[in-house]
Amino acid sequence: MKLAKYENNELIIEDKSIASLAKTYPTPFYLYSEKELLNNYHIFYNAAVDQGINKPLVCFALKANPNPTLLLSLFRAGAGADIVSGGELQRALENGCDPQKIVFSGVGKTKKEIEAALDCHPQGIYSFNVESIEELEMINACAKEQNKLARVCLRLNPQVKAKTHKHISTGYKTHKFGILKDDILKIFKNKKKFSHINFVGISVHIGSQLTNFKATKKAVKELCSLINETNHKFEFLDVGGGLGVDYTKSDEVPTANDYMKEVYSTIKKQLASDNQDARVVFEPGRFIAASAGLFITQVIRTKKSEDCFFAIVDGGMNDFVRTSLYGAYHEINPIVKKKGKKIPAEIVGPICETSDSFASHYKIQKLHTGDLLAVMDAGAYGHSMSSHYNLRTRPKEIVLTCEGEEKLFTYE
Ligand code: LLP
Repeated sequence: MKLAKYENNELIIEDKSIASLAKTYPTPFYLYSEKELLNNYHIFYNAAVDQGINKPLVCFALKANPNPTLLLSLFRAGAGADIVSGGELQRALENGCDPQKIVFSGVGKTKKEIEAALDCHPQGIYSFNVESIEELEMINACAKEQNKLARVCLRLNPQVKAKTHKHISTGYKTHKFGILKDDILKIFKNKKKFSHINFVGISVHIGSQLTNFKATKKAVKELCSLINETNHKFEFLDVGGGLGVDYTKSDEVPTANDYMKEVYSTIKKQLASDNQDARVVFEPGRFIAASAGLFITQVIRTKKSEDCFFAIVDGGMNDFVRTSLYGAYHEINPIVKKKGKKIPAEIVGPICETSDSFASHYKIQKLHTGDLLAVMDAGAYGHSMSSHYNLRTRPKEIVLTCEGEEKLFTYE
C-alpha cells in the first residue's frame, strides 16, 4: 500500500484526507496521484537506460488510463503513446503527444482511423503496428492517396503461451493478434509491392500482467531471429507492454529492472550486429498507471443472509470491472480503520448480476452503512473499462496534481 497510508487510523493520500474528499465529491470516484504515475514512468524509463538500452521510447498504452491530466503529465515527461483507436489518437494529440512518438496497434484499424493517423503530421505517426497483410494493403493504399510513406512495424505472432489470465494472453497462433513469422518473411520478399510503406520496425506483445518472463524471453528471441532472417535494417524493435504489478503485495513480482535485464540480455545475445543499434520501444500501461489510482466507494447498506455478510457498496461492475471480469484480486481498505476482529465479507455492488463483486470472503472489520472503502491499485483498466450498464453514470475521476491541486474529470 504505497500510495495511501494510515495516519491516526485514517487513510490519507499525499497529506489529503480521503474522507474529506468524499465530502466534496460524491462516491463512487477514482482518485489518482500524478506524482505516483510519474514516479512509475521514471522507474520504467530509468530501468531501460540503466541497462544501456539505446534511446528507449516508452509509449504509454492509453487503454490503461486515458485521463487527460495524467496524459499531459506523461507526455511532458517525454512519454509517447500506444493507441488502438481514432479516439485514443485524438486524446493523445489533444494532450500534447508528439505524433512521432505514437504507435498504433490493434487488429481492426478502419480506413478512417488510418487516414487520420497519416494526416496528423507530415510523416504521419511514428508507426502503424500492423496485424495482418490485409491491413498492410489498406495502409499502403491510404498512404498512396495522401502521397506519403507510411511508417510500419509488423507485429509478430511469436506462438508463445504467456502465463497470465486467458483473456489477456495474446501471443499464441490461435489468438487474433499479429502475423506469423513465415507470412512476415513473405511480405519482405514482396516488399516492392508496398510502394508507400516504410518498414521501420518489428513488434511483439504477448499479454498483460506478466510476472514470469519465460514466455517474454522466448517471444523476444523469436523477434530477433525474424529480424535476422529479413536481412533488413530496422530503426526500432518494439517489445510491447505487459509488465505485471504486485496486486497481492506478495513481493514476488519482478521489478522493472528484472524485466529490462531479461529483455535486453536476450536482444544483445540474439540480434545480429547490423540491427544492434536499433531503438527499443516499450508499450507499458498497467505498470505506469495501476498503483497510481484508487477507486473510492461507500457502503449503501449491509445485509446478513444465513452465514453470508454482504456489504453493498455504491460502486458497481460498470465502474470497475476487473474483479467481476477476470476474478482479479484487489486489496480493499477502509478509509477509517476500526477496531475489532476481522470477519469475512462479501463486498458487492448494486448491479443485477451475481458477478458484480469486488471481493468474496474478504477479511475486514465489520462494515456499516456509510463506511468508505478504497479499492487499491485501480489506476489501470479501471475507469477506462467503465460503462453505463444499468443506466448508471460513469464515475468521476479526480487527479491530485504534483502541485497539490485537485483536477476533476467527468464524462457525459
Ligand atoms: N500493447 C498492446 C498491443 C496491448 O494490447 C496492451 C494491452 C498493451 C500494450 C499494454 O499492456 P500492459 O502493459 O498494460 O499490460 N483489461 C485487462 C488488460 C488488457 C490488456 C490489453 N492490451 C486487465 O484489466 O487486466
